[in-house]
Amino acid sequence: MIPPAPTPPSRPRLIQLDDAEAVAGAVAALIWEELANSRPLRPLGLATGRTMEPVYAALVQRAQAASGQALQALRQRWLSFNLDEYVGLPGSDPRSFAAFMRTWLGEPLGLEGAQLRLPDGLACDPWGEAVRYGAAVARAGGIGLQILGLGLNGHVGFNEPPCGPEVPCRCVQLSAITRRQNAASFGGDPLAVPQRAITLGMAEILAAQRIVLVVTGAAKAPVLRRLLTDPPTPELPASWLQRHGAVTVLADRAALPERPD
Ligand code: GLP
Repeated sequence: MIPPAPTPPSRPRLIQLDDAEAVAGAVAALIWEELANSRPLRPLGLATGRTMEPVYAALVQRAQAASGQALQALRQRWLSFNLDEYVGLPGSDPRSFAAFMRTWLGEPLGLEGAQLRLPDGLACDPWGEAVRYGAAVARAGGIGLQILGLGLNGHVGFNEPPCGPEVPCRCVQLSAITRRQNAASFGGDPLAVPQRAITLGMAEILAAQRIVLVVTGAAKAPVLRRLLTDPPTPELPASWLQRHGAVTVLADRAALPERPD
């Protein structure tokens, strides 16, 4: 008998919508559905960054338009783990990702701090904190729906290139390009962006049940094209997503001017 051919890595499902607002609405709908209908529900994996601002705004809008009962159910079921946090910033610092999550989701949705988990950027041992945070994700059952943004250099979370698919949660050095990309929150000065961060690794990300990569804006078009067409490589950490069987890429027209063949 001829053995069956090995299954090739499945290509990400690609959904293209007109603009960032349409993409945000679609991602918010996916998060809402996950919280409402997944049984058993695993924790959400969430990202920060400008791409996520309209996504979370759309989710809050949806929650505000829902019945009191639906909003109550969402509050009861919510547990999320963020991808990353800067080392050296307390959660009270408005530039921290903890503050971002409170502003965009915690306060408007009425969530408790313990429902929105992030690494502790002020831990005196960031490497130990990374191990603790990775273990907390595992203890909670791993991530169900993982939402990802995309760095200009192909990072997801803060998994900077080069980076293999098996690296776990850890403390990393941020690249110059990433510090430039994120400088806006630091008065436009890349040197004011912390040099290190704690990030979930590709290992925890690829262990999620489902992954949604959100890409909007023309600046991301070259890196998105590479990740959809090139074979997986450590030089483009997001390309490891091609190895996951349940990835959806949600992009707007600006980020995907031509659909790959
Ligand atoms: C940041 C974060 C990522 C984020 C990405 C894109 O550095 N660590 O989790 O998804 O870069 O950011 P933006 O949406 O602002 O382009």
